[in-house]
Amino acid sequence: MASLAYLASSSTLVLLLLISNNNFIESQAQLSPSFYDQTCPYALLTIQAAVRTAVSRESRMAASLLRLHFHDCFVQGCDASLLLNEGPSITSEKTAFQNDGSLRGFEVIDAVKSRVESICPGVVSCADILAVVARDATVAVGGPSWPVRLGRRDSATASRALAEANLPRATATLDELRANFQNQNLNERDLVVLSGAHTIGQATCGVFRSRLYNNNSNIDEGFRALRRRDCPINGGDGNLAPLDLVTPNTFDNNYYVNLVARKGLLQTDQELFNGSSTDRIVIEYSRNEEAFRTDFAAAMLKMGDIRPLVGSAGQIRRICSAPN
Ligand code: HEM
Ligand SMILES: *[C@@H]1O[C@H](CO)[C@@H](O)[C@H](O)[C@H]1NC(C)=O
Ligand SMILES: *[C@@H]1O[C@H](CO)[C@@H](O)[C@H](O)[C@H]1NC(C)=O
Repeated sequence: MASLAYLASSSTLVLLLLISNNNFIESQAQLSPSFYDQTCPYALLTIQAAVRTAVSRESRMAASLLRLHFHDCFVQGCDASLLLNEGPSITSEKTAFQNDGSLRGFEVIDAVKSRVESICPGVVSCADILAVVARDATVAVGGPSWPVRLGRRDSATASRALAEANLPRATATLDELRANFQNQNLNERDLVVLSGAHTIGQATCGVFRSRLYNNNSNIDEGFRALRRRDCPINGGDGNLAPLDLVTPNTFDNNYYVNLVARKGLLQTDQELFNGSSTDRIVIEYSRNEEAFRTDFAAAMLKMGDIRPLVGSAGQIRRICSAPN
């Protein structure tokens, strides 16, 4: 490599160094949408059917399932470390501050996995199931589709410490959010478009209370009064409010319309429209739903490529909640 680069022109040298340092480029080459075409041809249809059933039973489940893939990918890469229960060699991520009592849908993932195991034992990874489920959940509530790249393997380890360090918190500032995403090689635009996932789902009073009661002026007063009704200054921590107050069960661009109207629910939502460089991206998506859909799909593919285990690394877990 060094002698090869020595012979090459300086611009080629820069390119070679960039490629050799960038595991995202390498992983894109290794994952493929057709990975299970020969080994488990009905895997994708099986997953899709199960997700459709779960979402038709409870529409919020689409949101809960989409969130799981995000919380998996930001910790050790997209390796299903999120799904491991506490054990002798495992510090479960499920009890990390950002996950505990908040993540939902594990039983859906377990059910999908057991159906897929029954048709192709030991073939389809839990990490790939999370990625496909996230796509199918998005589609089930009217969102865009994308060709999920497959071939990830599952880790035999998890890290609660890494989960607490890497997952963004609802009280983060814009600079902290940028750093959280930059850590995963995701840029400011990726941050804004992936936050658009908050066009569906619910949050608990405990995580947005401070935004309703602090002296911050970047909030619509009518919205503040409305949300205070179900989120008193003391108590009611578990009370729910929709992340998108207009259409909480439809994947659309109202999340951005809300931010422009200063009606973001989480502090971190409104940080994206608060007088900085991300404002123009929020405005763009608030006016152009098609751009949001296209960019969201592309960013989900990018997020799904975060440090996968491939080749002989990791394992294909038999059940998602424990290593083999
Ligand atoms: C930008 C940083 C982010 C922060 C600080 C954040 C934080 C949160 C918080 C605090 C909740 C509510 C949890 C609760 O009250 O139990 C939530 C819900 C949710 N988040 Fe995020 N999130 C972020 C980005 C994302 C991304 C990138 C995605 C997916 C691509 C996502 C998907 C969701 C979904 C769908 C829900 C609703 C889940 C449900 O109803 O079960 N979030 N998020
Ligand atoms: C908000 O501002 C008012 C007046 O400026 C002040 O009296 C009050 O203590 C502040 N509240 C908080 C939570 O900072
Ligand atoms: C927006 O900016 C103001 C002024 O810098 C700041 O006080 C506030 O915390 C920021 N965030 C939100 C969500 O309003």
